[in-house]
Amino acid sequence: MEYGGLGNIRLAYHEQGSGTPVLLIHGYPFNSLIWNRAGNLLASNGWQVIAPDLRGFRQSLPSGDNPITSMEQFADDLHFLLQEIGITKKVCVVGLSMGGYVAMQFAQKYATELSGIVLCGTKTVADTPQIAENRRKQAAALLDGSLSLADIADTMIPKLFSAATRERKPELLTELRGIIIESQHVLGVAAATLGMAERVDTTEVLRQLDVPVLAVCGTEDQFSPPSEMQELAEIAQRGTYIEIPEAGHLVPLEQPERFATALEMVR
Ligand code: MLT
Repeated sequence: MEYGGLGNIRLAYHEQGSGTPVLLIHGYPFNSLIWNRAGNLLASNGWQVIAPDLRGFRQSLPSGDNPITSMEQFADDLHFLLQEIGITKKVCVVGLSMGGYVAMQFAQKYATELSGIVLCGTKTVADTPQIAENRRKQAAALLDGSLSLADIADTMIPKLFSAATRERKPELLTELRGIIIESQHVLGVAAATLGMAERVDTTEVLRQLDVPVLAVCGTEDQFSPPSEMQELAEIAQRGTYIEIPEAGHLVPLEQPERFATALEMVR
């Protein structure tokens, strides 16, 4: 891992390969390790892969001065990081789930620096009041210790994967549990939970974007189902939709080869 300085925080990132820059933004409550397999494949396919731990996740420590990390803050961190690394070419920004919320904020503020955008298992709409309220309760429970990261892992993991992954690659469930629990920071996860609750709708940003947009969806994604992901591709001016079989919410982890091949559509 390397580190980029961002004033009061240091952002850890993994960089490999050379070629077209691609920024891989992880989902919640994961970290850059979720990209290991897909990142290796992309690097050997001629991409310059940059996979950061978002602020407050794994090796990027929480800042401590703000209990909420907004999606805009995450996007600003990443923009700053790209400048620090010295990326001057346009970047393909890939967002998985919460990473997609961050990617859309990046697109809103830094559209001219994008070569394309890949949205995987995500949405552009804001939370309903009920979902936002549930997130606030979850953040409070994390902070008062009545909810642990292990509890979150236990609730989420059974819903994240396709039947094929559960049957044939059970080691991925174990690996994901480690990603959620080990080396994560309750403060950082809680701050991101609150940030998701207050995020704004970015559908209009998607409609206005003048770069290739690829919407990737696992056939069995229970969080962002195929019909919703297909709609994102239809909203975008230059949108393409691809559905990946034998995958649920975590296509890059479950089907890294198919995911890496799909990214050729936005190169
Ligand atoms: C994620 O995988 O990042 C989360 O499911 C996003 C969310 O909770 O909205």
